[in-house]
Parts: sequence; structure tokens; C-alpha cells
Amino acid sequence: MNKPLISMESINKVFYSDDVETHALSNINLTIHEGEYLAITGPSGCGKSTLLSVLGLLDTASSGNYQLASQPSMNLSTKQRSHIRNKEIGFIFQSFNLISDMSVWENVLLPLSYRSDLKNNEKDALAKEALEQVGMSHRMNHYPAQLSGGQQQRVAVARAIAGKPSLLLADEPTGNLDTKNAKAVMELLSKLHNTGCTICIVTHDPNYAAATQRSVHMIDGQIVADEQNPRAAVNDFMADIEATA
Ligand SMILES: Nc1ncnc2c1ncn2[C@@H]1O[C@H](COP(=O)(O)OP(=O)(O)OP(=O)(O)O)[C@@H](O)[C@H]1O
Ligand SMILES: [Mg+2]
Repeated sequence: MNKPLISMESINKVFYSDDVETHALSNINLTIHEGEYLAITGPSGCGKSTLLSVLGLLDTASSGNYQLASQPSMNLSTKQRSHIRNKEIGFIFQSFNLISDMSVWENVLLPLSYRSDLKNNEKDALAKEALEQVGMSHRMNHYPAQLSGGQQQRVAVARAIAGKPSLLLADEPTGNLDTKNAKAVMELLSKLHNTGCTICIVTHDPNYAAATQRSVHMIDGQIVADEQNPRAAVNDFMADIEATA
């Protein structure tokens, strides 16, 4: 087994709003190893997006320990968090979240533009490579509104992977797509996983969860099941994709 990339111990997240206290995450213990591909499943409101936000340093836990790549991440400043996030973590959202008045090329280049460790020609090369990986190079000069939903999500995947993050997080990446495009995005994620990417997706769909290596099931802010998916289910899913492609 590869070394742990993520290590969460006794993570809690409480939201306070008006008089209501919501325990969105309760005593989460989760280790994710480099190169793993896992799915987080569970009913609406159980804390999946909250867990992904904490994993991706978009939000902080109320208590507990969280180590990302062996670095403690609980006491980082906002600036340190955004620096690590920009370099190490790629996000994909249900609603694509592309910037409408920027071209495909500008959207993919945007997160790289904040990277002081890369030269401009390196940024260009990374953006080009990411667009090639998702099969969208031919739409480089288009704007998001000129693309189908499936194409927009492929551009969003390119934007997320362009900086070669250690961790790719996707919250319902197929939620706004029809079956064919959803399968295309899942196939893309499987391919990225095969190139060594560590991926964590949130999904409602048990078939898509079964296409990953490991399923973590949540209820009421807690992890209630954590199991390896049978290899056969992954193979069946890929065969099904090839049959419908
Ligand atoms: N910013 C916030 N302020 C207050 N409560 C919040 C906030 N974000 C989430 N919550 C609450 O935390 C709980 C978990 O929400 P979360 O969005 O993580 O659920 P989810 O599993 O992603 O649901 P869904 O499948 O519907 O997307 C919910 O009860 C929600 O109302
Ligand atoms: Mg959610």
C-alpha cells in the first residue's frame, strides 16, 4: 500500500446559525492513501460536501486532527491554506463553475496564473496537456456557453488537473449530466486514476460509486461503512461504458 496522503482523526464540524447547531461531521476518522480512488455516498444532508470542503481546505474542522501529505493542516493561516489548495488540490463541482466571460483556455489557465513556482511557458504547457487529456483542445477558444454540459465538465476537469494536484476532489461531478456524458466523465476519472491520481468523489449513484475502488458511506455526519469495492464491479462498469460509447 502507498503512503497515506490524507489522515483525519476525530474530525468534527459544527455549524452555528441563529439558534441552530448542526453537527455536520461527527468523529470522522479517514485515511486515504496515495493513488486511491474512493467514493463518498450517503443521503442528502449527511455531510458529504462538508467533508469534501474540509478535505480540500475550503473549510476548517471545528476539532480533530487533519494531516495532508504528512503536514498538519489544522492551524494554517488563510493564506497558507489557499497556497496549498492551489498547488495540491483540484476541485470539480456539480455545476461546472466555469467563468462565463473567459474562454476555455483562460478558464484552464486561471488557477495556474496564481502559481509563482511556474514560468509562463510551463503554465501554457500544463494547460495544453490538461485540455488534451480531456479531449477538449479543439474547443480552446470557445466560451462555456458555447459548449454542451458534458464538454463544460470536461473543461472543468482539465482546470482541476492542470496543476497536477496530489488530490482530485469531485462533488457530484455527474449530477448535472445525462447518462452518456456522466459515463464519459466517470471514464475520464478512471483514466486519471490509472495515471496515479488520488481521487475522491461524492456521488448519489451506487453504480458510479461501484466504479471506484472504495466506498465510504455516511449517515448523519458519521462514517458508517468503509469498504473496498469488488474489482468485478469496476470491470463491469468499464465494459458497460465501452458498450455504450
Ligand atoms: N454553511 C453552513 N451553515 C450551516 N449549516 C450548514 C452549512 N453547510 C452545511 N450545513 C448543514 O450541514 C449538514 C451537512 O450538509 P452537506 O452539504 O455536507 O450535506 P450533503 O451530504 O452534501 O447533502 P447533499 O447530498 O444534499 O448535497 C446539513 O444539515 C446542512 O444543512
Ligand atoms: Mg452536497
